Amino acid sequence: MFASIENIDQLNDFEVQFLSKKSEIGQISKNLKTCSPEEKREIGQALASFRDEFTEAFAKKKALLETEMLNKRLLEETIDVTQQFPLEKGTLHPISHVQREVERIFTSMGFEIADGPEIESEWHNFDALNIPASHPARDMQDTFWISKKSDTSHENFVLRTQTSDVQIRKMKEHGAPIRLIAPGRVFRNEDVDATHDAVFYQVEGLLIDTNISLAHLKGTIETMLSQLFARETTVRLRPGYFPFVEPGFEVDFSCALCGGQGCKTCKNSGWIEFMGAGMVHPNVLRNCDIDPTKFSGFAFGFGLTRLAMMKYGIDDIRLLSSQKIEFLSQF
Ligand code: PHE
Repeated sequence: MFASIENIDQLNDFEVQFLSKKSEIGQISKNLKTCSPEEKREIGQALASFRDEFTEAFAKKKALLETEMLNKRLLEETIDVTQQFPLEKGTLHPISHVQREVERIFTSMGFEIADGPEIESEWHNFDALNIPASHPARDMQDTFWISKKSDTSHENFVLRTQTSDVQIRKMKEHGAPIRLIAPGRVFRNEDVDATHDAVFYQVEGLLIDTNISLAHLKGTIETMLSQLFARETTVRLRPGYFPFVEPGFEVDFSCALCGGQGCKTCKNSGWIEFMGAGMVHPNVLRNCDIDPTKFSGFAFGFGLTRLAMMKYGIDDIRLLSSQKIEFLSQF
């Protein structure tokens, strides 16, 4: 019976049953006083040695059960300190991927990466770029105006509509020659739909030096696109109007999907509209204290957001700012 005890509770019950005052042994001890002195001694000794034996066996059994219990608990509660938990790693935003690619390609051609403020003075965003207040070109980039005038000047401020302002700042700071790209966030008062957003990313580029021609512009853009799409890509220039360049162009590139054969993406034309560009207007150079009789150069600007959409086949611009993990974790 003793051997079949499996846990401490059963052992305690056993003790009560056999050793407590109410147990048979308890009764015998109680009745002992009615016995003769000889009987008392004999039975008393027998009881004492039974108690000793039992107490020892009980203690041993208790220790054994406790050890078993502890081992069982240890096994149940084991922590494997060597186990590795899968860590959820974040991914880069598709625009960041394309921006890094574009930056890598331009820096390999000796272009510096330049940055500027998103809240910009009217002068840097418009006037210095040969867009006077009355000029209809201001309507092309319907603007968010900041009502507060700066404390130090009486200028108006806008959320920049283009990163061309960075070119102005850098030309004023460093003069010529200069070679930079300005990637960044720009803002326009657009109605948001699948292909338009009021906030998007742009890359503008500028190269001012001596003896710079349109051939340099064409070569630079073809090199960038060929590397980005990992296939030979050509560009074509169509006349286009931008106040800060003369002559100005709309630049298309040969469709990277069909190689210029014609497909759905390029609407069967073989060409994709890509950006604005041209030779920097002498007025802009003068506004930045650069002598247009000594220096000339080209400027261009394209939508980084649109480029990312094209590269990854994203058909709704709103997904890019949606913060949807299912969408973003694909990149
Ligand atoms: N800044 C123009 C835009 O945002 C793009 C451009 C840049 C055009 C440089 C010509 C030269 O639309």
